[in-house]
Amino acid sequence: MPFKTIIEPFRIKSVEPIYMSTIEERMDYLKEAHYNPFLLRSHQVIIDLLTDSGTSAMSSEQWAGIMRGDESYAGASSWERLEHEIHDLTGCPYILPTHQGRAAERILYGHLGGKGKVFISNTHFDTTRANIEFSGAEAIDIPCHQAKDNESDFPFKGNMDIGALEQLILTHGAANIGAVILTVTNNSGGGQPVSMENATEVCAVCLKYRILFVLDCCRIAENSYYIKHFEKGYEHYTYREIAQQMFAMADACVMSAKKDALANMGGFLALRNEPLAAACTNLLIITEGFVTYGGLTGRDMEALAIGLREVFDPGYLNYRIKSTAYLGNHLKEMGVPVIYPIGGHAVYVNAGEFYKHIPAHKYPGQSLACSLFVLGGIRTVEIGSVMFGKYDDQGKLIPATKELVRLAIPRRVYTQSHIDYVIEVFGLIVAEKEKAKGMRITKEPPFLRHFTAHFEMLE
Ligand code: F0G
Repeated sequence: MPFKTIIEPFRIKSVEPIYMSTIEERMDYLKEAHYNPFLLRSHQVIIDLLTDSGTSAMSSEQWAGIMRGDESYAGASSWERLEHEIHDLTGCPYILPTHQGRAAERILYGHLGGKGKVFISNTHFDTTRANIEFSGAEAIDIPCHQAKDNESDFPFKGNMDIGALEQLILTHGAANIGAVILTVTNNSGGGQPVSMENATEVCAVCLKYRILFVLDCCRIAENSYYIKHFEKGYEHYTYREIAQQMFAMADACVMSAKKDALANMGGFLALRNEPLAAACTNLLIITEGFVTYGGLTGRDMEALAIGLREVFDPGYLNYRIKSTAYLGNHLKEMGVPVIYPIGGHAVYVNAGEFYKHIPAHKYPGQSLACSLFVLGGIRTVEIGSVMFGKYDDQGKLIPATKELVRLAIPRRVYTQSHIDYVIEVFGLIVAEKEKAKGMRITKEPPFLRHFTAHFEMLE
């Protein structure tokens, strides 16, 4: 198209109100929420960029499918449709429906894990790591070296470090590796894509040492976009064919359908190996539900089956990736440090670099998240020392490696004017940069503190 405006490839049929508020009102809301955006109420938020998970707008086709949902306990036609769709996409013969991604993780890693086992990933997402560690096993991240350089424009910073992979296998012994997990795109690593070449290399190493190769595929359509446009040899394949090619290499696929299946709830586990599928099916029936619905209603399964097809539409994917990059590139031009290139589902702002005057123990990311809410009603999430910081024996903070704030973009929800508003709010954030003084934690739980911790603003 010769035009630079990225128009949303949909018309709006049903709308949800956004409640406007003043800076003073938002200061009160944030105080009541103890300066933790997770504790805000959704109607207090103007633009909600907390997550892209389960926040998609469904299409009229998906809503129509919801009316068709077959709620039979066993053998529902909605299950047949979903199973057929996942089978066609992944090529896996055994499909287990779960209520969301982490339920599939609990089943698979609960079975494969246990004390003495090691799992290796480009980067484990936090629920993936939690499920592995809960089983008693160890989770090790080995992102490629390009991922450490925020400025480099290497297009596949989500790749795994293949040299480190072989080294770890030799150190721990192949028999002790529970699985190798490739997360596409790499959410915790900045939403960066993984190349087909890297997936092929990971697959070859897994075959060589007879280790299970798992794909965490919740954003695989977005990943396919980058392969088609930035990796040689894939120009003539469709996005879906590229995803199918990547799926064909995996022994197991774990999916949170709350992302690229464009659904508000759902997930699945897809497996190639019969004994593994039998063991996981037992756990599915005990903890999720019968094999033809698992953790889902018939209507969920319809929405998911339709969403899994819609997400590969070229018009949708073009809009999705370009509109996220539109936000990220504007912020970069304004001098806001962002992880570059911009990933598919979110823009990650480097708050540590932006607020150079705020040290890690005063939580620059949390400060930025609070300023974004007060100045513009924008809700985001800190991914830094609040989320990943630990304490040493003396109670001193061991900071996270990066102090980031994630602006995750819900799918098909906001228009360009909403995003232009976010960019304008960042104009104020830049102008008032020196006013931010940092935060102090006043109360925190022992695990996953970012969800419920209380804070105070430093004067
Ligand atoms: N894997 C990845 C890469 C994820 O990003 C998520 C969820 C999960 C697994 C777990 O799936 O939420 O359905 O249980 N990510 C959300 C986020 C929560 O905000 O990035 P789930």
